[in-house]
Amino acid sequence: MSMATLLDEGHALELDAGDALAALRQRFHIPPYLDGEAAYLAGNSLGLQPRATRELILGDLDNWAHLGVEGHGGDNRAWVTYHELLREPSARLVGARPDEVVAMNSLTVNLHLLMISFYRPTAPRNAIVIEDSAFPSDSYAVRSQAAFHGYDPDEAIIRLRPRDGEHTLRTEDVIKVLTEQADRIALVMLGAVNYYTGEYLDIPAITAAGHAAGVIVGWDLAHAAGNVPLDMHEWDVDWAAWCSYKYLNSGPGSLAGAFVHERHLHDVSLPKFAGWWGNDLSNRFLMGPTLTPVATADSWQLSNPPILAAAPVLASLRLFDEVGMDALRVKSVRLTGYLESLLDVVAQRHPITVITPRDPARRGAQLSVQIPDIDVVAVSDELRTHHGVYADSRQPDVIRYAPAPMYCSFHDCWRAATALSNVLDAHGR
Ligand SMILES: Cc1ncc(COP(=O)(O)O)c(C=O)c1O
Repeated sequence: MSMATLLDEGHALELDAGDALAALRQRFHIPPYLDGEAAYLAGNSLGLQPRATRELILGDLDNWAHLGVEGHGGDNRAWVTYHELLREPSARLVGARPDEVVAMNSLTVNLHLLMISFYRPTAPRNAIVIEDSAFPSDSYAVRSQAAFHGYDPDEAIIRLRPRDGEHTLRTEDVIKVLTEQADRIALVMLGAVNYYTGEYLDIPAITAAGHAAGVIVGWDLAHAAGNVPLDMHEWDVDWAAWCSYKYLNSGPGSLAGAFVHERHLHDVSLPKFAGWWGNDLSNRFLMGPTLTPVATADSWQLSNPPILAAAPVLASLRLFDEVGMDALRVKSVRLTGYLESLLDVVAQRHPITVITPRDPARRGAQLSVQIPDIDVVAVSDELRTHHGVYADSRQPDVIRYAPAPMYCSFHDCWRAATALSNVLDAHGR
């Protein structure tokens, strides 16, 4: 029996027919493939473009064309308060109070700005805890912060590693490190959903353990925002930051976000780098030499935001508001579970291992497939060029599939699994 028969295409189509969110796909531009559409499972790298985005950007370009500098004011998405439009939807997305969030900068910039405030090392307590498989930018950021404060990054960075023979972290092991090494730790900064393994860490449990150890806990939500329901305020997280070009579908390099828990918002002792956009709007344009800080996350803002990069975030957040994270999560769990069951069939014939946690509560819309002794870059190229399946490769040996529930179908998952089987056949694996 062929692999394609084992993986029943008709069943995928039936699942799509019964999918209440199936029509959402029409709201996106899906890259073409041959006479049809690609199966796009690379949304954890760069999400697809909502159809509404272009119109919104064009509207802002029109404002600039017609109003010139007067576009800073005006009644139609005035630039001076544009980021305010993103505040409430961003807060809903990450489970925050509106004052606790701000859309600004890019992700790594925000990580640094927040670490300026929340990484306050002392001689005995100067370590930062990250995952060993943290995204390189996070790793560079924490190392440079330690060095900036005069500490040796090789000593100051504690990297959490899975147990021998395991791919992902166990919550109890993370907590053990926080508890046992509390007297040397200043900050925990972890990826909520790990970019490589797709593991979704237990944010409330780890945050609580960090606090019990007297440690500030921040989260990188790059792969979590728009992927899993979040409750940053209730989970008592100190701070967090995220980008918006992955599950948030806001386009390459678009405006990122930041969260600071309200208990820190009035703390004037926190060191911050300042810029005029952190000044209270009521006297920002009086042009005085000293800053009047606002008691919201806005006080971490430095510059007036790039409006053309904010417009796609607005278009995207409107879609998230329309659908709601809870409904998306329901579909996401089904879609990822379905892809997992297909990959289990593929694994009967090929040497692949899904290294993402099997428990749906411990993952989002991502399955990382480990394929040893093969050029994974070539595999992802062949998936795309020969089969119209977009995935991505991550060195050394992983193909990542992200069945994003906004625009991916069950049939896309079927294509992703059968294409992988075909590519591996072609490689004699
Ligand atoms: C977990 C994580 N952190 C940081 C970054 C870097 O983001 P940026 O280039 O927006 O700073 C990425 C980008 O993919 C990421 O996945």
